[in-house]
Amino acid sequence: MTNHRIALIPGDGIGAEVLPPAQQVLDAIGRRHGFGFTYTTYDWSCERYLRDGAMMPEDGLDQLRDKEAILLGAVGYPGVPDHVSLWGLLIPIRRGFRQYVNLRPIRVFEGIDSPVRGAVAGEVDFVVVRENVEGEYSEIGGRLNRGFPEEMAVQEAVFTRAGVTRVLDYAFDLSARRGGKVTSATKSNGIVHTMPFWDELVAERAAAHPTVTWDQEHIDALAAKFVLDPARFDVVVGSNLFGDILSDLAAAVAGSIGIAPAANLNPEREFPSMFEPVHGSAPDIAGRGIANPLGAVWSAAMMLDHLGHPEAGKDVTDAIAAVLAKTDVRTPDLGGTASTAEFTEKLLELL
Ligand code: NAD
Ligand code: IPM
Ligand code: MN
Repeated sequence: MTNHRIALIPGDGIGAEVLPPAQQVLDAIGRRHGFGFTYTTYDWSCERYLRDGAMMPEDGLDQLRDKEAILLGAVGYPGVPDHVSLWGLLIPIRRGFRQYVNLRPIRVFEGIDSPVRGAVAGEVDFVVVRENVEGEYSEIGGRLNRGFPEEMAVQEAVFTRAGVTRVLDYAFDLSARRGGKVTSATKSNGIVHTMPFWDELVAERAAAHPTVTWDQEHIDALAAKFVLDPARFDVVVGSNLFGDILSDLAAAVAGSIGIAPAANLNPEREFPSMFEPVHGSAPDIAGRGIANPLGAVWSAAMMLDHLGHPEAGKDVTDAIAAVLAKTDVRTPDLGGTASTAEFTEKLLELL
């Protein structure tokens, strides 16, 4: 029997509450399809930082390198500044393992009460492809004159031809296998160097993918269209920051940020890819056992696809659809009263 080597990084807050449900689902689906998992769990977290002075050990990436995939809960918690915790764990993994595609699907499921009137099940089904290793997330810049009236902060954004081209090609190729339409998020009316460059590269890559139609929207107008007409999208491609914002917005349109999954992909498979819910550690509800596990479970389904088990992945997303369509068991973010454990139990029943 195949045993897939999986790294588990529960991380902080509800990260540690949503990973066990994902693991239970993986084990159950593996038994049915005839494969298993060997998990290695890492305690890398803000708690570790406060104890040992680092989010992960110096050879952290080397410890992960031989794994087939990484499943992560969430990173960041009050008590450690976010830029320290995230740049000490999550972002080094994304960059060190060249996970330059962050794939974030959005679906309005039957049985979900979207806050958006026009968001109808079966119609809203698209993917945000987020550039995941460069762009606005950069260490270039600095703080000057701390404490003086002249105090200032400068932050550079980095867009490289190679980095933008590869994520655009991924988006166009993905769209060719789906609805055949790419929407590019831009802001070339206000940002005068990077965004016109982005637009030029989009036009260039679009020409190389003639079967896919495409358009572009300024990020502000695009945000409005996510709410007003979410059914129009197939693949939306954006820079690191734009993709980040759009994916939380899209998750809210689909009913809750607690459902949305993410795949941080190294498409060339030189390194392990990482699967994690879109949401964070949710300190406001952590420790209460009421976090929605579906974002983590759906991320695990994306991991199954990546490991070469698309039928098992589909069984998992079908079970997510079934628990929402056929039962009224839900966590509070979806208007229910179930705990994480009760919701997971119902999901396992339907798997
Ligand atoms: P968040 O996603 O943690 O929470 C935003 C809101 O959504 C909160 O009200 C929270 O209760 C709710 N929510 C999130 N996930 C939920 C779930 N599964 N079920 C029910 N409700 C859920 O975002 P934030 O408050 O901006 O960030 C908190 C911390 O998490 C910060 O340290 C932040 O940097 C970090 N963060 C980490 C990741 C990651 O590891 N990939 C992602 C986002 C934020
Ligand atoms: C996400 C998160 C991270 C990001 C933060 C926590 C650095 O918001 O995964 O969407 O911006 O990438
Ligand atoms: Mn985010």
